[in-house]
Amino acid sequence: MEVVIVGSPEEAGRLAGGAITSLLANKPGAVLGVATGSSPLPVYADLGRRRQAGELSFAAARAFLLDEYVGLPAGHPQSYRAFIASELEARVDFAPGAVQGPDVADDSEGIPAACERYDADIAAAGGVDIQVLGIGTDGHIGFNEPGSSLGSRTRLKTLTARTRADNARFFAAPEEVPRHVVTQGIGTILDARHIVLLAFGSAKAPAVAAAVEGPVTAMVPASALQLHRHVTVVVDHPAAADLQLAGYYRETYTAKPSWQGL
Ligand code: GLP
Repeated sequence: MEVVIVGSPEEAGRLAGGAITSLLANKPGAVLGVATGSSPLPVYADLGRRRQAGELSFAAARAFLLDEYVGLPAGHPQSYRAFIASELEARVDFAPGAVQGPDVADDSEGIPAACERYDADIAAAGGVDIQVLGIGTDGHIGFNEPGSSLGSRTRLKTLTARTRADNARFFAAPEEVPRHVVTQGIGTILDARHIVLLAFGSAKAPAVAAAVEGPVTAMVPASALQLHRHVTVVVDHPAAADLQLAGYYRETYTAKPSWQGL
């Protein structure tokens, strides 16, 4: 696991945006895993800038969302599908239909079948090349709350009161935050070839330390990332505050050979 401590979320956005740009240069048909929340926003802003400058194209690429609320009306501005449409798709040049999210509509097949289909669609697209991830204050990734199986696949989950309170800022009233979600499982996330986790601000410091330096445990879903062979954790100074090895991470990054990339 590589930990990169940066001066600002914008710097983190440039780093992750640079990794995605290199990926697309080598593999125009790459598959991106996209997360919602505030943490990935600097990455999406950076990708938009690079698109405007003609540095990259998503024309042949695909993307898969991590998760989605269940029960919001289609097109609701807080649905994760709508969030990715406005924060990422509107800024770059994905082909129509290239960005896919879990199907949470109550269709005849039902949610469990739609979840299985979603994992199958990701696999059929060749798997995720770079997964952008945030982390909840309780250590969740996607919407895999504490207690989630470390081998889980895409499925229905119930949000904790803490996550609903954390996400209430995006809704008119706290009770409007849905209770249910569909999320890629921890096992689904771990199938990505490269995972870039972003966290900013002091509220994330305990979760970041537990995920990176604590034991691997279902109580901290992000700690499962320790089992993955290529994870980059990009944090600002406040989010890095509880890391015991922060000095070592800084030295390692400063001394990193330039050919290594992220
Ligand atoms: C939600 C999303 C997660 C995200 C988390 C943190 O729970 N499902 O994918 O990581 O929020 O959000 P933020 O980045 O806004 O702190």
